[in-house]
Amino acid sequence: MAESDKVFAGSIPKFYDTLMVPLIFEAYAADLAQRVAAFSPGSVLETAAGSGVVTRSLAPKLSADARYVVTDLNQPMLDYAASRQGSDSRIEWRQADALDLPFEDASFDVVCCQFGAMFFPDRVAGYAEARRVLRPGGRFVFSVWDRIEENAFADDVTNAVATVFAYDPPRFLARTPHGYHDRDLIEAELRRAGFAQVEIETHEKLSHAATARDAAIAYCMGTPLRNEIEARDPGLLQLATDRATQAIARRHGEGPVAGKIQAHVIVAAG
Ligand SMILES: C[S@@+](CC[C@H](N)C(=O)[O-])C[C@H]1O[C@@H](n2cnc3c(N)ncnc32)[C@H](O)[C@@H]1O
Repeated sequence: MAESDKVFAGSIPKFYDTLMVPLIFEAYAADLAQRVAAFSPGSVLETAAGSGVVTRSLAPKLSADARYVVTDLNQPMLDYAASRQGSDSRIEWRQADALDLPFEDASFDVVCCQFGAMFFPDRVAGYAEARRVLRPGGRFVFSVWDRIEENAFADDVTNAVATVFAYDPPRFLARTPHGYHDRDLIEAELRRAGFAQVEIETHEKLSHAATARDAAIAYCMGTPLRNEIEARDPGLLQLATDRATQAIARRHGEGPVAGKIQAHVIVAAG
C-alpha cells in the first residue's frame, strides 16, 4: 500500500461524505448497523469510522445507556463525522490507529469496522487488536469490498484514469479498497489473529448517482485516488475526472446512472 492511500484529509472528507457515501457506503452501513444492533451490545467500538456513515445509522439503534466509541486514523474524517452527528452523550470521538488501540483488554461487546481493514498495513495485527479489546463472547463485525471487476464504477474510473497516465497508471482503487477480497485469505488471517468462529457473506447491491459526473467526481476527488493523481500532476485532476465521466456515461448512460457494487460482510468471534 502506498503511504498516500491512507491519507483522508484536505478536501477529501467533504467530497467523500457528500458524494462517495451516498454512492456506495450508505446501503452497506445500514446493513452493518442492523447486524451490530442485533447483538444488543452495551458497548461498541467503531474503527476506521471515516465521515461517520455507520455511526449515524447505528447510534439510534443502541440502548440509552450504551457506550459508543468512534475512532479513525485521520482526525479530519472524525471531525467531519462529529460535525454531522449532533449531540449524543453516549458517543466518544477519538483518533486511533486500529492497529494500536488505546483501550484496555476486554472492554467492548462489539468492534465494528466498515471498509477499513483493506487499509491496515498488517491485517493480522489489526484483527488481533480488535480481538484483544473484545470481551469474551464479543463479536468483530466488518466489511471489505469484493474485487474491482465486481464494482462497476470503480473499475470504469480506474481504466479511464489510466488513459491519462499511460506509463504510470494510478492504481489506488484496485490496489487498496479492492485489493483484499479473497475470502479464504480473510478467514485464514482472522484465525491467525485468534478468532475461532468466522462467518463471511457476499452481498451485491446497486450504487446510484444523479449523473456520471457525480460518480466520477466522487472517486477522483473524494478518495485518496486524488492524492495519487495530484502526485503525478495536479493540473491533470480535471482531465482525469473528465475521462472517468465519459467512461461511466458510455457504459451507464447520460442521465442518472446505476452500477453494481459487491462486498463481503464478516462476523468473527471466539
Ligand atoms: C474507505 S474509508 C471507510 C470509512 C467509513 N467506515 C465508511 O464506511 O464510510 C477508510 C477509512 O479508514 C481509515 N483508516 C485508514 N487506515 C487506518 C488505520 N490504520 N486505523 C484506523 N483507521 C484507518 C481512513 O482514515 C478512512 O476514514
